[in-house]
Parts: sequence; C-alpha cells; structure tokens
Amino acid sequence: GDTPPQFTFEPNANAVSAAERAGLIADPGFGRVFTDHMAVVRYSDAKGWYDARITARAPLQMDPASSVLHYAQEIFEGLKAYRLPDGGAQLFRPEANARRFRHSARRLAMPEMPESLFIESIERLVEADRAWIPQADGAALYLRPFMIASEVFLGVKPSSDYLYMVIASAVGAYFKGGAKAISLWATPTYSRAGPGGTGDAKCGGNYASSLIAQAEATRNGCDQVVFLDTKEHRWVEELGGMNIFFVFEDGSLLTPPLGGTILPGITRDSLVALARAEGLTVREELYGIDQWRADAESGRLRECFACGTAAVVTPIGQLKGPDFGFVIGNGGPGMVTGKLHDALVSIQRGTAPDPHGWSRRL
Ligand code: COI
Repeated sequence: GDTPPQFTFEPNANAVSAAERAGLIADPGFGRVFTDHMAVVRYSDAKGWYDARITARAPLQMDPASSVLHYAQEIFEGLKAYRLPDGGAQLFRPEANARRFRHSARRLAMPEMPESLFIESIERLVEADRAWIPQADGAALYLRPFMIASEVFLGVKPSSDYLYMVIASAVGAYFKGGAKAISLWATPTYSRAGPGGTGDAKCGGNYASSLIAQAEATRNGCDQVVFLDTKEHRWVEELGGMNIFFVFEDGSLLTPPLGGTILPGITRDSLVALARAEGLTVREELYGIDQWRADAESGRLRECFACGTAAVVTPIGQLKGPDFGFVIGNGGPGMVTGKLHDALVSIQRGTAPDPHGWSRRL
C-alpha cells in the first residue's frame, strides 16, 4: 500500500553460539560466512510493498517457473557496516545505495523501493546481527540487498511480484593477496556493456556476462579482467565488478566518465570527492588503452588502482593483452593509492572526522 510496511522481528531460535560466531568471523574470507538473520519485504502490483520481516536466514522455497530463474530480472546492492573504535557500528553512505537501487530497478522494469524502506531493512538487519560485525582491520559486515522477480509465469514481461531481501556476510579482504598489486587482462574478445544496455544498473546479468572474460583473464595469468568500450574497443571502462583510477606524475587523477555503460560506484564517487578535497585534480575523461600503454612506458603514469565496496582500493601493477604487457609505476602499491585508501577507510571505520557526512551511525 501507500503506507510503508512495519518490520516484524522473528529471532532465529537456532542462532549460532557466541563462541562459534567468534571462530567464524575471525578469518572470514569473502562472502562465505553468513549471519543468523535476513530481511525480507515483498511487493505485488496489487498490494505494493508488504510483509516486511527480519527473520531467521533460511533457504527459499520458489516455484521453478519464477520469472527471475528464466529472464534474470534481478538487481542487487553492496555496502558495509563497520565496527567503530568505541564498540559502536556505522554504515557508509547507505542513501547512495538506496538511490542506485532505485535507478537499477527502473532500468530492469522493477518497482522502485522507497529509500527509507531500503535503509530501514538494512538497519534492522544489522541491529539483529550486530554481534557479527568483525573488529579486525580490513574486516566488515557486508550487506547484500537484492530483489528478484517472483511471478510464476514464463511470458517475457515485467513480473507482477517481487521478493526483496537483505543478507549479511562477515568479510575480510576481497583479494587474498591483501594490499598486493593485482594484474589486469585487457580482453580482446568480450564486452561488458554497450550504449543503451544495462551497464550502469547493478543487475546480476552484468556479472554473469563478465565471468567468461574473467576466466579468460585467469587463463592468461591475470587477476582481473578490464573491459573496453563496445564501439571502438579502445576506451577503458571498468573491471568485472570494480571501477578504475589512474594517477599521473603531476599528481592528477583520471577515472572513466559515467556515460551509461559504467557502474556508478559509490567508492568511485567517494574517492573523487576525497582526492579533490586533498587539492588533487581529478578528471572524469575517456582514456584509451594505447594512451595507457604509452603513459606507462614513458613514466607519465605512476599508479593505477581498482575500487569498489568489496575491493575497497586495490593497487594495479600490470596490464596484459594478447600481444603486449607492461608494468605500471614500480609494479607495486603506489603512494597516492595508499593515501586515498587510508583516507577512505579511516572515515568508514570512524578513526577520522567525516567532513562529507557519509557515515550513518547505528
Ligand atoms: C561490490 O560490492 O563491490 C561489488 O561490486 C560486488 C562484487 C564485486 C563482490
């Protein structure tokens, strides 16, 4: 209906013990350790948003004709809750995720969840599973809101029914190497998104289509794939699930512009703001792969890094393609990359002031 649904709370009667939880979150890796609860909200064309619950995390029962299973009408988000020095907890820019979730919903012909309901679902879940937020440096509670089309129908049309959920996962570093620089593979074979496509929506389909290119990268000895534009196969876009930045010898930065084919990363946006607040020049401009190579070889390009909620800020040391390969800077983590990483993380973890008002205390 028009009035937002109120969340009910059904505690998990089989929640894991404190000792078991401590063991699980001590070295969680990424995306395998889940909390005791989940948030659920349902939607139908007839009723609007209804049936909001925080309940025990459990497998779903779905009809095999649920339309998401056939036509991939699905969107998701990613954000983190951080443990604060005083034992409290906070979210980083959840309003930005709420806004982007609506944007993704529009593109996938799904209902736009009110931003207050989106944020409340996350706050309620973190409230229930607060004890799962890890303490360690680099660790956090990763929140995964998502929405799937649940109408039982094989016709190709927007579903009349949707299931929205939030699950939570205690996470450490996304890359096993920690702060080590990663290598990229410039795929000559695959594209991620074209003009008018879903590239700027956070939908599962984008990630599904990136997997074969990521496998190609792995086969060629690289950690991650980097995609170029579809038209000219020249302009650098993004990685499989991260944005990219370049740092030049004059201290300026460049990141590809949001032209509709790139995911508008919240970490990307935050780093642009942080760098500018430090007095650095940040250009949001097209950058060609030939220029990238020339700049790396001349030494004009000093550093390069990937960023995302999961990856945070990860240095990039090398680029490889089918008939070339080069090192960026000294091939290891650069100074500007390190400074931006630390500036971002210290705001997220509440160890530095938050001049942009990004933190939302729980
Ligand atoms: C993120 O949360 O940073 C993502 O883009 C999702 C995935 C790479 C884990």
